[in-house]
Amino acid sequence: MGDRIDEWAQQLAKAELSGPLPRRWAHTQGVAERAIEVRQVLGADADPLFAAATLHDVGYAPRLAATGFHPLDGARFLRNEHSADERLTRLVANHSFALLEAEERGLREDLATEFPLLEEPLLVDTLVYCDMTTTPDGDRTTAQDRVAEIRSRYGDDSVVGRFIRRAAPEIFSSVERVEAAMTAQPR
Ligand SMILES: [Fe+2]
Repeated sequence: MGDRIDEWAQQLAKAELSGPLPRRWAHTQGVAERAIEVRQVLGADADPLFAAATLHDVGYAPRLAATGFHPLDGARFLRNEHSADERLTRLVANHSFALLEAEERGLREDLATEFPLLEEPLLVDTLVYCDMTTTPDGDRTTAQDRVAEIRSRYGDDSVVGRFIRRAAPEIFSSVERVEAAMTAQPR
């Protein structure tokens, strides 16, 4: 089961991203590597984390960018074209505090109604951790550096800049919770 969903997610993300967005594909592969590193804290939930890590940015694919808000575009694509399971679409739609960015974009209602935040805090936190400790090129980084990079790339006056300033404390808390869980968990 694990292998099948992992392979499906990787093939799908590669098909959508590697051609038009090679850098986004490199980031995706790094985020998926982080998902393997943290799997010990999740037990059976490691599979949905890996699939979500692999597909979290699929909505950036140009042909899928309907609203231009990639978490929502990606989750709708997975639901509509692949009948993906609800846990996966809800993780993708809400990855890395997307609800706060949806607010900036006037899409909060759409997102919250179609894809409510999963009530599985550790799973949600681990996806934040994987995304926010990986650079745009797929290398390992700290959440502090990642947030600083996003701020400088988009600028504080942009939608993403406003979002990331509001999300930063939540991001750092998620990362700390995952690091604590990993420390507590014997390998
Ligand atoms: Fe990402």
